[in-house]
Amino acid sequence: MEAMPRELWPARLHHLRRDSPKPEPLARFYGELLGDPVGPLADGSWLVAGRGRRLVVGQGAVASVPYFAFELQDAAHLSAYRLQWSKTEAFSSPLFADGAFAVHDPDGRRVAFGIPKGTDAPNGLPGRLQHFVCATTRLSEMLEFYRRLGMVESDRVLEGNELSAVFLRSDPEHHSFAAFRAPDSRPDHHCYETTGWLDIRDWADRMGRLRIPLWWGPGRHGPGNNLFFMIEDPDGHKVEFSAELELMPKDMAHRTWPHESRTLNLWGSAWMRS
Ligand SMILES: [Fe+2]
Repeated sequence: MEAMPRELWPARLHHLRRDSPKPEPLARFYGELLGDPVGPLADGSWLVAGRGRRLVVGQGAVASVPYFAFELQDAAHLSAYRLQWSKTEAFSSPLFADGAFAVHDPDGRRVAFGIPKGTDAPNGLPGRLQHFVCATTRLSEMLEFYRRLGMVESDRVLEGNELSAVFLRSDPEHHSFAAFRAPDSRPDHHCYETTGWLDIRDWADRMGRLRIPLWWGPGRHGPGNNLFFMIEDPDGHKVEFSAELELMPKDMAHRTWPHESRTLNLWGSAWMRS
């Protein structure tokens, strides 16, 4: 792999795929959770899509996320970015125009890049798909890979001299990807960014009506300084709702946080992955 970071900036998370042995009930769960329509796709997977968010739900291992996909600025950005890779594979998605491609990260997960096609339906409460987070056994390797991919490190968490979490951005939003050190590599959560704290109230009220208990929060993360709560989907994969995520210019240096519960929740108890 080339030593210099590639020119990804600015790019945003556009969609991801959540797999399960029984995809249709999971797609229906997300449709109800988000208030978004659910429809079948040609390859047998399901699309749950609303305002600023799209989730492909397919057949696969329980709680898995086989890929996540970034939206680049335009076709010129996409083709220039692709030229910076020596090896890519075609990425076929009903949500992206021709020319999309993917690479594999050190955990084997595909990271896709493309230009969206179609328009969003204005359904449900505001919550734009904003970041994806995984747990990994090879955190340093993942940090190196995602930096060379063109992401910029925003914050890192250290236990002594050892990395325990990294947060990376692909536009001024604090992170569109993050990774936690853990005993096994797996998806961790994905997040919907809302327009403010009152949206967090409205989403939590929605969870109440749906009898979906809040799993963690409300709280405020140290890295990103965002207000949040999380719930679990039926496979135990976590789903986060967030507000007021910090903005950082491209050239701002990363900060360092200690590996302690207060870093993950300035207000109280935390979910420690290691
Ligand atoms: Fe998050």
